Amino acid sequence: MASSPLLSFLPLLLLLPEVPAAAPASPLQSLLQEAAPCKVGEPCPQGPVGKSDPPPVNVALYYEALCDGCRYFLVRELFPTWLMVREILNVTLVPYGNAQERNVSGRWEFTCQHGEQECKMNKVEACLLDQLEKNRAFLTIVCIEELEDMEKNLEPCLQIYAPKVSPDSIMACATGDRGTQLLHINAQLTDALKPPHEYVPWVVVNGKPMKEKDQLLHLVCQLYEGEKPDVCQITAGSHKDVCFK
Ligand SMILES: *[C@@H]1O[C@H](CO)[C@@H](O)[C@H](O)[C@H]1NC(C)=O
Ligand SMILES: *[C@@H]1O[C@H](CO)[C@@H](O)[C@H](O)[C@H]1NC(C)=O
Repeated sequence: MASSPLLSFLPLLLLLPEVPAAAPASPLQSLLQEAAPCKVGEPCPQGPVGKSDPPPVNVALYYEALCDGCRYFLVRELFPTWLMVREILNVTLVPYGNAQERNVSGRWEFTCQHGEQECKMNKVEACLLDQLEKNRAFLTIVCIEELEDMEKNLEPCLQIYAPKVSPDSIMACATGDRGTQLLHINAQLTDALKPPHEYVPWVVVNGKPMKEKDQLLHLVCQLYEGEKPDVCQITAGSHKDVCFK
């Protein structure tokens, strides 16, 4: 499997499930188990955020599948932030971005900035978000977005993060009516943005567009009203200090 030189998390993630005996306790397993009782669209009673805790920080990413800046933000910024503070984060992905839609005799047709393949992958990712539990969908999308040939890598990425879901069922969704319907919903979500998006990746944190994209962890820590995770203590600019000899 060819991995992109741009992005370096996958090798690490690929190794996790291969730790044989330690599998139940591996970080990946615990990520997925923690998620297992929750279903898309339903409250998550055993989730990391309890009833009495303050609400999580909402981070919504409006993006398109083949835009390099989007891939970079997703894999290098959002994913590491999620790994560090996912208990206080509520991530929403909206694949569509700068695409456009037209009603052609009652059927939605899409034009994507990076061509047909991008429309297809936007639909694949919309279908993953529709059909997989939330954390599994997020991890699968990060996995395919960090590799060059996204469509080809749907299968290995699903094998890692959602082995019970067949790539064929996802492709059937993406190339069928359901994929069209899901992308249309994302078009409406994107077009309803206030203020409207100016570019992608367009990141909305607790309802406000975020401009400084390299500060996501800091911003999330700042906005969270509950007891902050330990990692928040090292984000307030201290990482820029050097240590003199
Ligand atoms: C997470 O965000 C979605 C909207 O994207 C919202 O419907 C949901 O209620 C939020 N979950 C929590 C726990 O705040
Ligand atoms: C799409 O076009 C068809 C006929 O061309 C029309 O009947 C339908 O109302 C249109 N739908 C929307 C949402 O504009």
